[in-house]
Amino acid sequence: MEIIHVSAECYPVAKAGGLGDVVGALPKYQNELGHIAKVVMPMYRTKFLLNNEWDVVHKGRSNMGDYWFDYTIIKERSNKLGFDLYLVDINGLLDREKIYGYDDDAERFTGFQIAVVDWISQWVHKPDVVHVHDYHAGLIPFMMKHCYKYQHLHSIPSVLTIHNAQYQGVMGWDKSYLLPPWDSWKWGMLDWRGNINPLASGIKCAWKVNTVSPSYMGELRQSSNGLEDLFEYEKGKCTGILNGIDAAVWDPATDTYLEEHFTAETAKEGKAKNKKKLCDTFNLDPEKPLIVFIGRLVGEKGADILPASISDSFYYIGRKMNFLILGSGFPEVESQLSSLQRIAQNDYNVYIGYNEALSHLMYAGADYLLMPSRVEPCGLNQMYAMRYGTIPMVRRTGGLKDTVKDFGEPGGYGIVYNWAAIGDITQGIWRAVDLYDDKEKVDEIRTKMMLLDFSWQKSVSEYTLLYESLKN
Ligand code: ADP
Ligand code: GLC
Repeated sequence: MEIIHVSAECYPVAKAGGLGDVVGALPKYQNELGHIAKVVMPMYRTKFLLNNEWDVVHKGRSNMGDYWFDYTIIKERSNKLGFDLYLVDINGLLDREKIYGYDDDAERFTGFQIAVVDWISQWVHKPDVVHVHDYHAGLIPFMMKHCYKYQHLHSIPSVLTIHNAQYQGVMGWDKSYLLPPWDSWKWGMLDWRGNINPLASGIKCAWKVNTVSPSYMGELRQSSNGLEDLFEYEKGKCTGILNGIDAAVWDPATDTYLEEHFTAETAKEGKAKNKKKLCDTFNLDPEKPLIVFIGRLVGEKGADILPASISDSFYYIGRKMNFLILGSGFPEVESQLSSLQRIAQNDYNVYIGYNEALSHLMYAGADYLLMPSRVEPCGLNQMYAMRYGTIPMVRRTGGLKDTVKDFGEPGGYGIVYNWAAIGDITQGIWRAVDLYDDKEKVDEIRTKMMLLDFSWQKSVSEYTLLYESLKN
């Protein structure tokens, strides 16, 4: 089958979080299974763009109301990612350094989607599936069905994968002029509670919708930033497919970011060397358990309660552990985490910012990975951690619930707590410190985790079944 993935992120081209990891891996594994999977994304001004060679495959012109724009589709020449990668260049709109966070993001992503649909509409053949990811591509199913110019695409099946329903791309109806002329009887297919809601539109118009874990799908009907009724109404076409991890990139035996490699058999020594390196760099004590957090410092991840959980742990448990935090996000959380350093030198450190290499070293060298997420559609960090022999300490929600089993349960291997609350986190830390002294148990858990299979193969088969269910 020919599958066109449309996304705002794709690793290693541009990544802000797990969306990038997934779109950089899923097509590769789909191709290994014999599909023809391609990725289309905006052309940001990234290192990957500058360091690779490109061919121009299409030039077109379109408009958002009175604003006419030229767009160019370029294709990476070597196919080194394991799939055809296409970038959409719209001068002045997409060619910026950051992926998100501009005042004109509504215009940027609408322009991107128009260019993608306009380009596909000119293909001689048609793909078997257009697979859109998150709200940045959520208007495409609507455009393929209800924009006059593109209605000949209406018979191409579309799938929407929701990686995060918190972000919906809501814009006022005053922005409706941005869209190519559409059948105004269908305004309800764009609207949610008085606004244009690209994510809601995708849910309504895509042929199938999935989230990135089964549990998250269920949770969205209870709590989804205003879309609860819609998820309930559309539940017939919604499913949950758990993400995999790219086992070729995330392998402690070959990871190019690591100097000290290890396998399940050599994990004890291998992890100790990586831990030493981390502790030397960040002035921590390698004798104590090392608990790390890696991620966006936002409410969803429970980052706002990290500072209090850490200081409470020092107070109630004592200086029996080290913490190392890597992340960026809300400025007040960043500054609280930074100021903790003044009171807890030698046991605590923080790196504010994004650092891919450091994240790999942390997965490899840490004893525990803390994820007190309030919402976690899938979560990749806990799966990376387990592959690197690091015990996840997670809140029982979404994909965390689907991937981590508490070590107190038969066959379990992680630390799981019920609430993103300071007391629950502190208790989890207390259990981690206690477990650390039982070296035999830790070894047993580590081996068990490292041998778990979180590879993409199973999820790819589930996506294939989903696409096949849409065949005309
Ligand atoms: P989300 O997509 O919600 O941020 P995921 O768990 O799916 O969460 O994926 C997060 C990805 O981003 C992982 O690959 C993680 O290692 C990476 N990541 C997050 N923050 C940072 C950071 N500050 N530096 C390096 N990598 C990060
Ligand atoms: C989102 C979610 C995260 C998920 C990722 C990849 O960013 O927040 O839980 O793992 O997408 O699907």
